[in-house]
Amino acid sequence: MNVERAISVRRSIRKFNSRPVSDEVLRKVLLAGNDAPSALNNQKKAIVAIVGDKAKAKLNEVVKANSSAETVERITARLNGEFNFFYNAPVLILVTSCDVLYPEADCACAIENMYLRATDLGLGACWINQLTKVDYPELKEFLKKSGLDESYTVYGALAVGHTEETFHTKAKNNRIIVVR
Ligand SMILES: Cc1cc2nc3c(=O)[nH]c(=O)nc-3n(C[C@H](O)[C@H](O)[C@H](O)COP(=O)(O)O)c2cc1C
Repeated sequence: MNVERAISVRRSIRKFNSRPVSDEVLRKVLLAGNDAPSALNNQKKAIVAIVGDKAKAKLNEVVKANSSAETVERITARLNGEFNFFYNAPVLILVTSCDVLYPEADCACAIENMYLRATDLGLGACWINQLTKVDYPELKEFLKKSGLDESYTVYGALAVGHTEETFHTKAKNNRIIVVR
């Protein structure tokens, strides 16, 4: 798939099947995130891919316990009554940074790169916001166990997995202005 097509057909996918994402395919997605630009080329991102069910389930409990009733209801409604903030995706990728300049923008670039590469590889992906800029002790502990000290903050995440959903172009508001 060329870049133009990947950009055009990428959609947020919230329905995944149970087929695991192979290490080889996952690596391609993660490298796309790693290749993203960063302010002043700080390269202070760390990308953590969670594949293990136990770690994902633990984070799901933490998010549920700390979410507003409205958020719990919205997410539960999307998944036939089950609360799972990453839609039971086989992989949840956390994008973190310890930079102080523009860490959100750095991480957003990485997430979009991975969104597009996942689309290119025929995978579904969805941006996940629930772990963004929160300092749940369980999350800090998890990051520490993954080798990241307390200077790292999650600025976004991406749920990734195989899907039966079809990709298609979609209508977007056109607010594009060219001044000559
Ligand atoms: C910063 C940001 C945060 C988002 N957070 C979530 C989220 O937590 N859960 C979710 O299901 N979708 C999330 N999304 C996906 C948007 O809902 C989605 O991009 C939007 O509805 C447009 O659909 P599309 O991605 O298919 O074009 C997020 C998107 C962005 C850019």
